[in-house]
Amino acid sequence: MPSNFVAKGADNYEASMGRWSQRLAESFLAFAGVPARGRVLDAGCGTGSLTLALATRPGLDEIQALDFAEDFITALLGRTTDPRVTVRQGDVCALPYEASSFQAVYSLLVLHFVSDAERAIGEMRRVLQPGALAAAAVWAWGGMPSWRLFWDAVLEGEPEAAKGIAPVRRPMTGQGELRAAFERAGFTDVAETRLTILMEYADFDDFWYPTAYGQGRFGAFFDALPRKRRDRLREAVKASYCAGSGDGPRKFPSAAWAVRSAA
Ligand SMILES: C[S@@+](CC[C@H](N)C(=O)[O-])C[C@H]1O[C@@H](n2cnc3c(N)ncnc32)[C@H](O)[C@@H]1O
Repeated sequence: MPSNFVAKGADNYEASMGRWSQRLAESFLAFAGVPARGRVLDAGCGTGSLTLALATRPGLDEIQALDFAEDFITALLGRTTDPRVTVRQGDVCALPYEASSFQAVYSLLVLHFVSDAERAIGEMRRVLQPGALAAAAVWAWGGMPSWRLFWDAVLEGEPEAAKGIAPVRRPMTGQGELRAAFERAGFTDVAETRLTILMEYADFDDFWYPTAYGQGRFGAFFDALPRKRRDRLREAVKASYCAGSGDGPRKFPSAAWAVRSAA
């Protein structure tokens, strides 16, 4: 299995993460840079947050997008008619492209879910022209304080069940770890930065539903809980979200580590 990502449908992904990866895509590209022209790859495109951001750059000649999840690919195909965009199913650990065939390769929020990330980074390097640009980002460990609201409620209300979904520290999510992985793959002059976006929710339901019923281990966990226990957790998370005020909009910062380098 080349992926540890728990997918649950493209619509769910959009509500729980895609709306935020769209936001991250812009600051990621501002940090990474985009070649004035040429052929670029979005490795692990998901529903296309980064692909569509790349498609706003009129100088690019060709944008290849690849992902493991077929329903994400279908969703992305439905979101663009740009003739420069080609979307295909595939594994980032065995990229189906010729060596030295891209001017830039990007990977946004993917490598920490890949079972053999070192191989994926090696593949990114293989398909790049010499001196061309590689860039990647992963969510930072501890960089998403909004998760604490869920996690603290689970720890307190479901201590036994919580053991099964204890937070997993995914690879390369600490400072310097993604950079070190790129250096091991042969990239030089790797620059690293921490990108922070705001996740903004209209109200508690907008916060709760996409996460509790959406992607990932929390989604699966809440799905499996009997109704009463799920309702109890919901009230606990709501109390933290509202924090003594009325329900309404809230913002949470979320941070990712990003690197860029030349092949
Ligand atoms: C958190 S999503 C990020 C998607 C997109 N880049 C974005 O920013 O919205 C992680 C993506 O990595 C993909 N993925 C995980 N392992 C993969 C692999 N080995 N090959 C291709 N795609 C993979 C998943 O299918 C999923 O779409």
